[in-house]
Amino acid sequence: MTKTAVVTGASSGIGEATARRLAAEGYHVVAGARRRERLDKLAAEVPSITPFTLDVTSQESVDALAASLDRCDVLVNNAGGALGMEPVAESRVDDWQRMYDTNVLGTLRMTRALLPRLIGSGDGVLVLLTSTAGFTPYEGGGGYVAAKHAQSSMAGTLRLELVGEPVRVVEIAPGMVRSEGFAVTRFRGDATAASRVYEGVPDPLTSDDVADAIAWCVTRPAHVNIDRVVMRPRAQAAQHKVHRVSG
Ligand SMILES: NC(=O)c1ccc[n+]([C@@H]2O[C@H](COP(=O)([O-])OP(=O)(O)OC[C@H]3O[C@@H](n4cnc5c(N)ncnc54)[C@H](OP(=O)(O)O)[C@@H]3O)[C@@H](O)[C@H]2O)c1
Repeated sequence: MTKTAVVTGASSGIGEATARRLAAEGYHVVAGARRRERLDKLAAEVPSITPFTLDVTSQESVDALAASLDRCDVLVNNAGGALGMEPVAESRVDDWQRMYDTNVLGTLRMTRALLPRLIGSGDGVLVLLTSTAGFTPYEGGGGYVAAKHAQSSMAGTLRLELVGEPVRVVEIAPGMVRSEGFAVTRFRGDATAASRVYEGVPDPLTSDDVADAIAWCVTRPAHVNIDRVVMRPRAQAAQHKVHRVSG
């Protein structure tokens, strides 16, 4: 019996790497995101990946994905990201609304829609991609820190509420990951500002590093719940403590 894993935000970065890795682990992977052409390319490369056009901010879109599934053993709530680096006093309300809608309510919509199938699988795994921003604020983090705190608290609440059900709840909280889109989205398409985030940092985490951690968590025996993985590059000792070498 082939298990099914649903990965949101699979058109780029950590989600794409996770879709590839779970496919390599033998899962049938349903890869969801808005940019269908990127998903089609991924599915053409990896036959056990099924592309699905998904917007986690749309209940209709989430319901359509849920209705298309025969089963669901793993749900990776990865779709999300940051918008802006302004101090709170100068933040844009609509950025905060979008971040909350994607990172937090997107996770809620997907979890509500797929939880019955995760339970029905007899060994479901619910993964939430939060961040170290989910428990440590930083200047300019604003709405992203707030959204990731909310998403992180959801992981804890869900684990309490689901105790006794055959579902594990795993939180993956990375620090600095040089993914394809994260910093570019945060700086509204400004690639120069985005690359400054990683300037001089020897070896930030890669999307594959995070996918590796996710794959390890979901492939543990059914009774082993990895509550939370906090991972950073060796060059990042804490949110503010990043080793940079000048070039
Ligand atoms: N990079 C980091 O340093 C870092 C650190 C900690 C945590 N994280 C978290 O890791 C997750 C993945 O980020 P990443 O670094 O891989 O960034 P990324 O390369 O920008 O990927 C973000 C993914 O989310 C998808 N997405 C965004 N809005 C969506 C929506 N409304 N519906 C469906 N999919 C949506 C995007 O696809 P479409 O645009 O095609 O929809 C894309 O595939 C995020 O939750 C992020 O907060 C990242």
